[in-house]
Amino acid sequence: MAIQNDREFGIPQSTEEKVSELIQRMNLDEKIGQMSQLQAGCGHIPDHLADDIRHGRVGSVLNEVNVDVVNELQRISIEETRLGIPLLIGRDVIHGFKTVFPIPLGLAASWDPQLIKQTCRISAQEAASCGVNWTFAPMIDISRDPRWGRVAESLGEDPYLCATLGAAMVDGFQGDKLSEKGAIAACAKHFAAYGAAEAGKDYNTVNVPENELRNVYLRPFKKLADSGVASFMTAFCDLNGVPATGNSWLLDDVLRKEWDYRGLLVSDWDSVIELSVHGFTHNDKESACEAVNAGVDMEMASRSYKHHLQQLVDEGRVDLPQIDRMVARILTLKFDLGLFDNPYTSAADYPALVNVDHLEVAQQSAAKSCVLLKNDNQVLPLNADQMSSIAVIGPLADDDYEQLGTWVFDGDPHHSVTCKAAIERLVGDKLDVRYCKGLQTTRSESCEQFSEALELAAQCDATVVVVGEESFMSGEAHSRASIDLPGQQVALIDALAKEGKPLIVVVMAGRPLTIENILDKADSILYAWHPGTMGGPAIADLLFGFQAPSGKLPVTFPRAVGQIPIYYAHKNTGRPVSDVNCLSMADIPERPEQTSLGMASFHLDVNYRPLFPFGYGLSYTCFEYSGIRMARQQVALGGQVEIVADIKNTGHCAGEEVVQLYIRDLVGSVTRPVKELKGFQRVLLQPGEQKTITFTLHTDELAFYGRDMQLNTEPGSFQAWVGGDSDARLMIDFDIYDDE
Ligand code: NOJ
Repeated sequence: MAIQNDREFGIPQSTEEKVSELIQRMNLDEKIGQMSQLQAGCGHIPDHLADDIRHGRVGSVLNEVNVDVVNELQRISIEETRLGIPLLIGRDVIHGFKTVFPIPLGLAASWDPQLIKQTCRISAQEAASCGVNWTFAPMIDISRDPRWGRVAESLGEDPYLCATLGAAMVDGFQGDKLSEKGAIAACAKHFAAYGAAEAGKDYNTVNVPENELRNVYLRPFKKLADSGVASFMTAFCDLNGVPATGNSWLLDDVLRKEWDYRGLLVSDWDSVIELSVHGFTHNDKESACEAVNAGVDMEMASRSYKHHLQQLVDEGRVDLPQIDRMVARILTLKFDLGLFDNPYTSAADYPALVNVDHLEVAQQSAAKSCVLLKNDNQVLPLNADQMSSIAVIGPLADDDYEQLGTWVFDGDPHHSVTCKAAIERLVGDKLDVRYCKGLQTTRSESCEQFSEALELAAQCDATVVVVGEESFMSGEAHSRASIDLPGQQVALIDALAKEGKPLIVVVMAGRPLTIENILDKADSILYAWHPGTMGGPAIADLLFGFQAPSGKLPVTFPRAVGQIPIYYAHKNTGRPVSDVNCLSMADIPERPEQTSLGMASFHLDVNYRPLFPFGYGLSYTCFEYSGIRMARQQVALGGQVEIVADIKNTGHCAGEEVVQLYIRDLVGSVTRPVKELKGFQRVLLQPGEQKTITFTLHTDELAFYGRDMQLNTEPGSFQAWVGGDSDARLMIDFDIYDDE
């Protein structure tokens, strides 16, 4: 009665009240309808879709970005249905909408949460101006296998980095409040451990023991669940024998009960009906039953809920309160997004697409995501005043589409500025900028353009060659068994190196490539990932020193595919390798004696170290780390660990460095990694400038899941390192003690 009165006097109801009132008015058919997400028609409304919406059989559509069509879809849902419930409009807004930012792995290389947040804010605004209110991002799958095509869409190999940057993405997409103009719901995907697919093949089987799952793969998801991400998406994969989409331990016991996650859980595309393909169920009806009972609120694309849920309820295999809880989560998101009040979109209410501000952020993020891997004799930055010509060569030097990378449904290559165009713009008044492709595509086997490329290189003062992978070579279902530079690109680099001119290799790729074979040939290597719309100007600025590179690797670079998985936070093993106990095939005599040297964990035929370690990246200046110290090296459990170090710019130009903190827990009830990232800070230092950096950790931040699968910080001895990559050597010991 009280509620009735409040409403009469205009006192707003809570979302919970509104949702429960609406659910009371819904029949089962309408509830099941809310649990269905259908593919839109892309630019038009197919009759069957309009009909389904009219009958209340659709809660969400995905992949419609024509604002007029979206508004019409909303109109049908609101005006032509019994209850007038608006639609969630989903889209993969992964690294930009019309303005395309670097691929997520590239964004992760910026180690810049604020900047990443800004890219997502812009993506959200652009998408929202077309009626999209839900993105399927961020992808926070820990990715330790660069063969996996979706490493491109990931934030790399490390749980801490991935959680920190993933949370920044959610902040950017969702804004302060979902009902704000330009905010869209984010989605933490793919729950869980999709990145651990065997052999790096997409959709492949995943076997990760629970302890590793909790300590590594689930960490970013827990962080995002705690920080209010609006939705989760299940993974396609089989996880330890139970496909994730029907895995009630994962979805119900962990996500709902243990973590108390209240947001919406959507399946991946057809992943409900694929439960039978996995051999987990007999048919679609059983799949629907398993998915609903595991807790999947909404089915993406396939229609097993529509076809079977009613019967499953009638048979008592799915209970109504469960359905009501699921529908409540869907309706809650719709209320939170303000869709009941403002279901329609007017593009005029939003900043223009691809405006100069958006392009500026695209350029900044591309510049900060580039990682300088090598710079012999300080060939970079180039000095346009001391040159008269430059050769710009390579299959990706002037390709407006390929530089955008994977997942660019909405990106328009016409907005792209390529390396060639940007170099011409930047220094064309001073230098003769000469261009030729050298290879038709990155995969070309024909070397017929080599002679033209070599002639150009011979005539110019320096060569920039832009190589890598085309965008389709990474992304969903685009895994590779060999991750070398494809086609004849290595041969092109070899040939150019022989010209004896300064050779700068720019690599655009969706993953770490095995590039040891070009290391000696190139004077400088700048790893640009797929840098997006403004990749060209960002790279040109870096090449000519208008900005110093400051990106750091979010993934370890292997020397050879056989080293995979290779990641810095590995366990020590009982026989760790070091410089003194590893052998190389070349050193082994013809009939080797069994020797204690070499009885360690390594490959005989490849140097045990990665090609480039996690966290690595050069600048045009040098940074010196010193003076690591702690006011207290004995810290009580529950207290603060404070680690301080000094960093100095010892070079001749300003530069930004990402200062990284790693720790090692020396002895645990389960073994701990040899190093774990626990903090990072970006600092700008002028030449000669020194700064003191302080990292403060609560002892809870050293917690891990032990043998009992409980999260605890175990007292004992620790080491901490501060430095510019995961090979950091500046170390201090400390202890955590329990004073109770
Ligand atoms: C399948 C992908 O795995 C997922 O990440 C994506 O969001 C959906 N398709 C929708 O396009």
